[in-house]
Amino acid sequence: MQKKKDPKYSWAIESEGRCVGSVWLHSFEEENRRARFAIEIHDSASRGKGIGMEATRTVVKVAFEHIKLHRLDLRVLTSNHVAIACYRSCGFKDEGIQRETLFIDGRWESDLWMSILEQEYKEKANQSLQTTATSRRV
Ligand SMILES: CC(C)(COP(=O)(O)OP(=O)(O)OC[C@H]1O[C@@H](n2cnc3c(N)ncnc32)[C@H](O)[C@@H]1OP(=O)(O)O)[C@@H](O)C(=O)NCCC(=O)NCCS
Repeated sequence: MQKKKDPKYSWAIESEGRCVGSVWLHSFEEENRRARFAIEIHDSASRGKGIGMEATRTVVKVAFEHIKLHRLDLRVLTSNHVAIACYRSCGFKDEGIQRETLFIDGRWESDLWMSILEQEYKEKANQSLQTTATSRRV
């Protein structure tokens, strides 16, 4: 597992009684109420089963409802389609591409920056509550 620089919060992701990954909030800027998100499901057999999305949603909720962040951002390789789909489903929006930042396996890779703001989180949380209330009434 890649060592994260001084993570302020880190959690183990557990599935069926085993630790299958980790999730971090790091690079805090207290005065700007911002931090960076990172996740890794190191057990490859546990990927693609919705665990990453559930862990991301949970930590986004903690970031805004308990830590009271204003902004949460992240950096992901543009070639990492699974991670990008996971982050978009959890409310992160694309901010821009930093071109050819890493040389991996003989080719240049670019980074996509994504973020979610406090207001966007609240709107998404309200929408989910309304959807749940409507489906209960039906
Ligand atoms: C990225 C990661 C956290 C995603 O977690 P996951 O549990 O594997 O993914 P989920 O099952 O929650 O699915 C997330 C999204 O990817 C899609 N997806 C999952 N597996 C997929 C696959 N093999 N091919 C295409 N799409 C896939 C899902 O449909 C979902 O998208 P949707 O909401 O649009 O339906 C995990 O795969 C991982 O840790 N990968 C290695 C490390 C890594 O890339 N970390 C992120 C670095 S920025």
